[in-house]
Amino acid sequence: MDNTTRLHYLHAMGIESWIPRSPPAFSAPVSSAVEKQSPPVIPVTAPIIIAPPVLPTDNWAQLQAQVQACQHCELCQTRHQTVFGSGNTQADWLFIGEAPGEQEDLQGQPFVGVAGQLLTEMVRAMALSREQIYIANILKCRPPANRDPKVAEMAACQSFLQRQIALLAPKFIVAVGRIAAQQLLNTHEPLAKLRGKMHHFQTIPLMVVYHPAYLLRDLRQKSKAWQDLQTMLKTYQALQGH
Ligand code: URA
Repeated sequence: MDNTTRLHYLHAMGIESWIPRSPPAFSAPVSSAVEKQSPPVIPVTAPIIIAPPVLPTDNWAQLQAQVQACQHCELCQTRHQTVFGSGNTQADWLFIGEAPGEQEDLQGQPFVGVAGQLLTEMVRAMALSREQIYIANILKCRPPANRDPKVAEMAACQSFLQRQIALLAPKFIVAVGRIAAQQLLNTHEPLAKLRGKMHHFQTIPLMVVYHPAYLLRDLRQKSKAWQDLQTMLKTYQALQGH
């Protein structure tokens, strides 16, 4: 149906304008009310598309090989290595950070720099070890100078994380830091409003914790972060019927 005919029908139905249901590829949805009232907002999150069900043929090795070969965004030109993720592929717990930093880019492993050491302590505070959990990032490649990920980069990378989540089928997701939390929850809420509450990613329980790099800059938040970790553990145990 051409646009004039469509508008004619919509007008006859009392609908004055037509907005396509699906946003242009990889742009955040903007409501028509927002469009009318305010200047354009630069989205910080790209929509996480409902997970493609794990393909019957999908597997960790194939996925990792695809990540290693990925050239979906410009970060492939500056990375030393992709950082796929690491840990126990049978884990109940999935920790998701933002993006590799310098050390991660050099070593090809997530959270191995100074922030990674604090994350390891945070995991231990939950009576867990890194061998018992799985750790991944929103982005698989380091943004130059550790700048925030761009929307297009997160969009280009999101199907890899989706497939990791589908393969792992974790019982609990921990979003580490603001960027991961906003991206997974498709929200612009600040971290202070997101922490301490139970959320879901699709049907999987998700909670948010301060990023260890942030805690290293502002140690006053550390006790709140430790409280959050205890809350997560108790919530997980309650969900598992312990
Ligand atoms: N920060 C992250 O968010 N992820 C890493 O892997 C390292 C630092």
